[in-house]
Amino acid sequence: MYETVVNLDEGLSALAMIAWLVTGYRVARIAFRPDERRRRRSARIVLGLLGVDALLLAAKLGSVGLLWGSAGWSFAQNRVLVELPVLLAGVLAAFGLAAPRLWRVARQHDPGPDRGAAADPRLVVPVQAAAVAAVLAFWIVFVTRPVPPYWLPALVFGGLLVVVVTELWLRQRRRLARLTRPEARLPGPGRRVLRAAGVLVALVAAAVGGLVVAAQASVLPDEYTMMSHARTMANAAGMSHHGGHPQHSDGVDLTSLTGAVDGTPDRRFTLTAAPAAVQLASGETAEGWAFNGQLPGPELRMRQGELVEVTLVNALPDTGVTLHWHGVDVPNAQDGVAGLTQDAISPGGRHVYRFRAPDVGSYWYHSHQLSDEQVRKGLFGALVVLPPAAPVAAEPGDRMVVAHTWNTPAGKRKSFGTDPSMQRQAVAPGTPVRLRVLNTDNGTLSVTLAGTPFRVAAIDGGEVSGPTDLVDTVIRVAAGGRDDLTFTMQDHPVLLAGVGFDVGPALLLSPDGGGDPPPVRAGTEFDPLHYGNPTPTPFDATSPVDSDPAFVLDDGPRFFDGQFGFHTTINGASFPDTPMQMVREGDLVRNTFVNRSHSPHPMHLHGHHALVLSRDGVPASGSPWWVDTLEVRPGETYVIAFQADNPGLWMDHCHNLSHAATGMTMHLGYEGVTTPFVAGRGTANQPE
Ligand code: C2O
Ligand code: CU
Repeated sequence: MYETVVNLDEGLSALAMIAWLVTGYRVARIAFRPDERRRRRSARIVLGLLGVDALLLAAKLGSVGLLWGSAGWSFAQNRVLVELPVLLAGVLAAFGLAAPRLWRVARQHDPGPDRGAAADPRLVVPVQAAAVAAVLAFWIVFVTRPVPPYWLPALVFGGLLVVVVTELWLRQRRRLARLTRPEARLPGPGRRVLRAAGVLVALVAAAVGGLVVAAQASVLPDEYTMMSHARTMANAAGMSHHGGHPQHSDGVDLTSLTGAVDGTPDRRFTLTAAPAAVQLASGETAEGWAFNGQLPGPELRMRQGELVEVTLVNALPDTGVTLHWHGVDVPNAQDGVAGLTQDAISPGGRHVYRFRAPDVGSYWYHSHQLSDEQVRKGLFGALVVLPPAAPVAAEPGDRMVVAHTWNTPAGKRKSFGTDPSMQRQAVAPGTPVRLRVLNTDNGTLSVTLAGTPFRVAAIDGGEVSGPTDLVDTVIRVAAGGRDDLTFTMQDHPVLLAGVGFDVGPALLLSPDGGGDPPPVRAGTEFDPLHYGNPTPTPFDATSPVDSDPAFVLDDGPRFFDGQFGFHTTINGASFPDTPMQMVREGDLVRNTFVNRSHSPHPMHLHGHHALVLSRDGVPASGSPWWVDTLEVRPGETYVIAFQADNPGLWMDHCHNLSHAATGMTMHLGYEGVTTPFVAGRGTANQPE
């Protein structure tokens, strides 16, 4: 719904701009018509065009109202406070001042419209003003996409309108004087073409100049530290109660934030990154990168609280690599972000991570150096944390389902593991089944289970309390997210199937591994907001918070690092101009995410789990819904909160990693924590 409305609204702004430009052009030409009859006719045409403009204006007002009504004030605000005032200033002038005069010119019979009346600035300029306003309005909606505070863009665009209209007014006065002189001669077509060409060349030159400047300005520095955002939340007025600059003399270097990891590890793993051929079950192959030659990488299984040691070895020919424990709230120094918590491990190098997994659940690990490219190529694997007393080996019926899209020469192949088609597995009836569905792709994964009622037992590792049976329900697994689906094995086949792609991976469980897949009926969508039973949480929607920033997610035509594209933004900016959230240890932090863009953004905060408080103003009412990766869909507003209980410098980014790679990245910083690492193309560290 939101996407349709916002596309309609943007389209109407474009149409209105074109219609007003035509009207503005025609209105200035009336006075140049050679005789009265043609001036009358010309004025009538302009009146007709004004009728079209009025219809488009009504449609535009309607679409803004629709946006407001369907998605909410946060989505209509930039229109109501910036776009419409600018647009209406011009349009009302055109209808109020110019239209009556045009009417008179169009109807005059005797002695016929004189040139003076048709060249009157009060007839011409208001229509031109509306055209300028419509261009600015389109620019505001489509390119600038203002975010709060709105008074600034309103002032800038309002001022621009005044300046341009003043200039047009002076020009029209000169014209009027010229045209009404007794010896007035109309400029010949040659001169007109010449002048138009001149104006065109000037406009193109200005546009090209602007583009070059914008492209240059977007180029990232060769070397930057990830804590030096151009703007910080703590410095932005009203964003935080702390104020002031986050620099402390008693700074803590994040490399000291390792947690207590001395002693003999309970579990040791070695992961060696190297080039590997991806062999899909379909027979297709692709070039990839793998840990230990396995795709996906080895599944790391451990018990809660165990001391785990993972040695990363880089056998890639010429790129660095790291390991990030997605969803596992490890101490900051173990978080594995190149250029923020460590240097990327260069070819031939090795690095030892040590941590104690704090929470039971389904997680994953992946490289956080050039993560978009490296995850796509295969540098990831599943990580399962079991309760302290549970057996570490997988029980029958308990398995990870790792969804990933492989790029083969013949095209993209959405797969479970490396199988883009239906896999079979024998499971004895009565067996408790737990399918831990992990989405490693950049887009949302929709799955459903056919042939059995099932439950969503855990989301992002966190157990759901009191899950109830679901039937024919579609589960949306956020990019980077995990959903554990449980059921008791039936005496007939059960199918886990992707929804929304015709040919796609599936998993058929049956008593003997054979049998026909049951029909898939993709019904309603699962909604965690009201699922399961509420249980006490350390804080809730009524708890007083220490900081409460809001983030507007959007996208539009712009430059990032010198590249033009339809790039995504946070509060109108891409990294390093995105806001940095500054907190103190112990703070309760609330974040609001408003997605005004055209695609979902699975927002992933490292090192913390956040509790979902509400969506679109509707409070969460089911089991506490803890997330590390929260999909915010277009038109949605989420309010979440987390306790700042893990000091460090943390990434907070979109897990559509191609969005992160084009700047949809920000950071959470604890006051006083510093990093010795730097990132940028002049260094070995490129986290995204
Ligand atoms: Cu799974 Cu910062 O990433
Ligand atoms: Cu995104």
